[in-house]
This record gives sequence, structure tokens and C-alpha cells, in this order.
Amino acid sequence: MIYLNGAWMPIEQAMIPVLDRGFIFGDGVYEVIPCYSGHPFRLREHLVRLQSSLDGVRIANPYSVERWDELVREIVAKNPMHDQYVYLQVTRGVAPRDHAFPKGVKPTVFMMTNPLVTPSPEQRERGVAAVTALDNRWLRCDIKSVSLLANCLLRQSAVDAGAAETVLLRDGMLTEGSASNIFVVKNGGIITPPKTNFILPGITYDVVIELARANRLPLQIRQVSEAEVRDADELWLTSSTKEVLSISMLDGKPVGHGTSAGKPGPVAARMHQLYQEYKRTVMRAPDNVQS
Ligand code: PDD
Repeated sequence: MIYLNGAWMPIEQAMIPVLDRGFIFGDGVYEVIPCYSGHPFRLREHLVRLQSSLDGVRIANPYSVERWDELVREIVAKNPMHDQYVYLQVTRGVAPRDHAFPKGVKPTVFMMTNPLVTPSPEQRERGVAAVTALDNRWLRCDIKSVSLLANCLLRQSAVDAGAAETVLLRDGMLTEGSASNIFVVKNGGIITPPKTNFILPGITYDVVIELARANRLPLQIRQVSEAEVRDADELWLTSSTKEVLSISMLDGKPVGHGTSAGKPGPVAARMHQLYQEYKRTVMRAPDNVQS
């Protein structure tokens, strides 16, 4: 069952008018919330980010945090699956086509849930391939907007090269992946770019940073140059659906040095382990003390 504007229905019956501004202009925002064994992961943080995306595009939040919280739990309860990710989207609504905002229009709210397939043991063991590309997106990458055409084109360039992700570079500096944040490891230290308008403030990114700090792993949050990306000992991507995943080949060359070149490294293995432990503790706790 999916949720559309206050009603529950099978996805095949869900219809939106062609003049929805999400369809015409990509005028909307979204969230992807992983749910493990029925427990939404970091729900509050996802809802805070939803609010800042809505503020960023000047759409009034149609629901309170409490209502969103209820709806996410409701969709999970209606779709019992072991691990799943809830996708929710808010667009500005339906109006005759005109770039400027229409007046008095109600936002369209859509929610669905799908099985969450985290990386396979084989992918974990071998890592994935990535390519680099010029980050040619707009300057508000901090907004989780449904206008994802640039991200789709960039991701397709990875797929065309037989790779899984595209690592983006802007003015010679690392930004993020086409649908992930990127971490670099050098001499045992973890480095990742700061949260600016050039990257999406990832919920997984925050968890990884918290885990690094809590476990006293060396961590620097600073600009990362293209040279540092290419000379990294390890490269990881993080996202709600991929969790922490090693990139073992970049532009056809092995990532890393010496015997571990082209293979996931030890810091990734440690972080993956910490992430899985963290997930387990969180999932054992009552939902209201999760974050
Ligand atoms: N994407 N950067 C971009 C551009 C993303 O699209 C995503 C996630 C992330 C990681 O954010 P988080 O850790 O909160 O998932 C970073 C989601 C999964 C998607 O669009 O499907």
C-alpha cells in the first residue's frame, strides 16, 4: 500500500494530475528512510532534513513532525517486510504551467516503501568500481530535490563504464557521489568534505562521523583535492541504502597501495563493523530513544 494525499491504495491505483509541478518542473523534495526490522533508522534526522529541503524550496511543510512520524510507522506496518526503505516526496502541487509559484495550492504528498537491499557480501568483500566526473549540478546540492536529472546523467556515466558510482569533482575538489557521500582514508585517517551547499548533508555521513569520533578514529572534515582522491589508501561511499561501501577501483585503476590495492581496506572493514553494531543497538532500543 502507498500513501497519496491522505489516502492509502495499491501503487497501481495511485494517480497524479499531469500538471503536478513535480512532473512539470521537478518542483519538489524527497527523503529516503531505511527501516530495519520495522524500525525507522534516524527518523528524526530525516524529518529535520526534509524540513530544511522544504524551507530551501519554499514549500510549507504539509504535516507536523509527529504526523510524519506516524505516517512512516503506518506505511511500515501496512507493508511488513524485513528491511525496507520508505521513500517520501512532497511537491508544490498542481497548477497551470507557470514558473512562478501558484497561490493557494496544496502540496502533493506521496509515500511508498520498497525492500531494502544492502550491498551483497561479495560487493563488501571486493568493493565496487567508480568513475570520476565534473560535478555539473546546481549550487544547492544541500537540498534533497527531486530535480535529479544531473545526478541521473552522472550515475549513468558510471553504469556506461561498468561501474557503480560516480565520484564528483568541482573546481578540483571532491564534493560527493551521484547518490552518496564520499570518504577518503589516508595513512589511517578518515577525511571527508564539510557540509556546504555543494553536498547533500547525508544522514549516513553523520552516523559515520559520530562513530569515528566515538571510537577515536582519526578524522578530518575538510576540503579534499582531486589528487588526494586519486592517491587515497581507501575510498568509501555512504548512503542510506548502501550504508558504508568501499570503492576499490577508480577510473579503471586500483584504489590504494601495496598489497591492499584494489581491495577494501582495514579502516572500511572497521567502520562497516561499527555501523552494523550501531544498527543493532539502535534497533533493540525503543523507537523514541533512537536518536
Ligand atoms: N541518496 N548525496 C546524494 C546526492 C544522495 O542522493 C544521497 C542519498 C546521499 C547520502 O545521503 P543519506 O546518507 O542520507 O542517504 C548523498 C538516496 C539514498 C537516494 O536518492 O536514493
